[in-house]
Amino acid sequence: MLSNQANNGGKRTSLHGHWSSRMAFILAVTGSAVGLGNIWKFPYIAGQNGGGAFVLVYLICVVLIGMPVMMSEILIGRRGRRNPVATMALLGKEEGSSQHWKWVGGIGVLAGILILSYYSVIAGWVLAYVVKSASGTFSGASSEVVSSVFAEFTGSWQAVALTHTIFMGLTVLVVARGVERGLEQAVRFMVPALLILMLTLLGYAISSGYFMQGVEFMFTPSWDKLGWDSVLAALGQAFFTLSIGMGAVMAYGAYLPEDTSITGASAAVVAADTGIAMLAGLVIFPLVFANGLSPADGPGLVFQTLPLAFGKMAGGVVFSTVFFVLLSFAAWTSALGLVEPAVAWLVEAFGKTRAQAAVIVGGLIWLIGLGSVLSFNVLADVTFLAGTIFDNIDYLTSNIMLPLGGLLITIFAGWVMCRNSTADELGSSGTLYKIWRLLARVLAPIGILLILINAI
Ligand code: PHE
Repeated sequence: MLSNQANNGGKRTSLHGHWSSRMAFILAVTGSAVGLGNIWKFPYIAGQNGGGAFVLVYLICVVLIGMPVMMSEILIGRRGRRNPVATMALLGKEEGSSQHWKWVGGIGVLAGILILSYYSVIAGWVLAYVVKSASGTFSGASSEVVSSVFAEFTGSWQAVALTHTIFMGLTVLVVARGVERGLEQAVRFMVPALLILMLTLLGYAISSGYFMQGVEFMFTPSWDKLGWDSVLAALGQAFFTLSIGMGAVMAYGAYLPEDTSITGASAAVVAADTGIAMLAGLVIFPLVFANGLSPADGPGLVFQTLPLAFGKMAGGVVFSTVFFVLLSFAAWTSALGLVEPAVAWLVEAFGKTRAQAAVIVGGLIWLIGLGSVLSFNVLADVTFLAGTIFDNIDYLTSNIMLPLGGLLITIFAGWVMCRNSTADELGSSGTLYKIWRLLARVLAPIGILLILINAI
């Protein structure tokens, strides 16, 4: 996926080579964006925050804040062509500000490590569900059976630790060997396949008789129920699902050829990511109501609704297995984005090989992840601030670190970088550029600040 024949037109090139094509870049960023955030997290966060109004705020955040932040991240990455820490330091100096902007990259490296520490635990659940599906556990199962299978599995710290270990091992393997080429092929196949399966499930959800109830829950806003904490959750979810605010997209942008349109690529990724999240919601909520479950059930929501639906479908064992395999791949390609800033930084700043960097970062993440492993069993009752260890890491990263990172990134792209630099990267000074600049300079930073201040 990365080739060394950079078309650099006299500009900087990346040490790690460049994407072979515009499509390769879009696939990599889409692979990073589409993941557990769309299918596991979006439905349960929307459910916990009352549905309708939350979903609308989330969509507004995606378009008015997420999109300009994503464009800013890619353009900064491509201009600096280094890991996020070095890129921010370099551009900070180059644009006549300070090299202390490197701290934005630093927050990103840390956020990626913290997010992957629990992301890997949930991805481990998905791996376990591949096996459970294939062995027919859910065939014709009742809602009680499905719920008890989930409770029993997550209740065993050994089982959860094992699958967390397997998932981290797989991630380290791919990062170490740099076999992204294989994953590019996987994304090429995975996203369309995931879409087809979601559409099949949508058919099932429509026939459940509770479809309209699901739609109503998702799209009828009751604004009186929407507090600032829910608005912050919507903003955090927008950042999380688009993989922005922590340098993943910036790191990928560093390998982007000069002639690729950043606006076009961003729009494609945002559309694919949002489409899949909406589909997930339209599948899950009707099933929640059809089975008398509560939308506010939390992180177990998809693991309790989807197996039920599959269990009642003809060919459900196959569908269910394929679905969880696809979701594992989606999680895997996202995990790569989460470690890329840390790995690229260790390679560039400390002269580590990719393999060494992958093992060091992976080991650290695995260790921190044990806190989230225990949050669902042994330490489930140990709660502080936002809840369990898992809840706290999730809150800190999604609701604070990513928005803060996004705020600083838009301020940097909008105010610190001069107009020539950004217009050069975005390739025009036409209407689209003006809209981006207005959003990046004014609307996005003020929006993020307002939400952060009001919610905290
Ligand atoms: N966007 C990914 C998802 O929705 C998670 C992620 C966040 C990946 C940040 C990379 C960076 O699952």
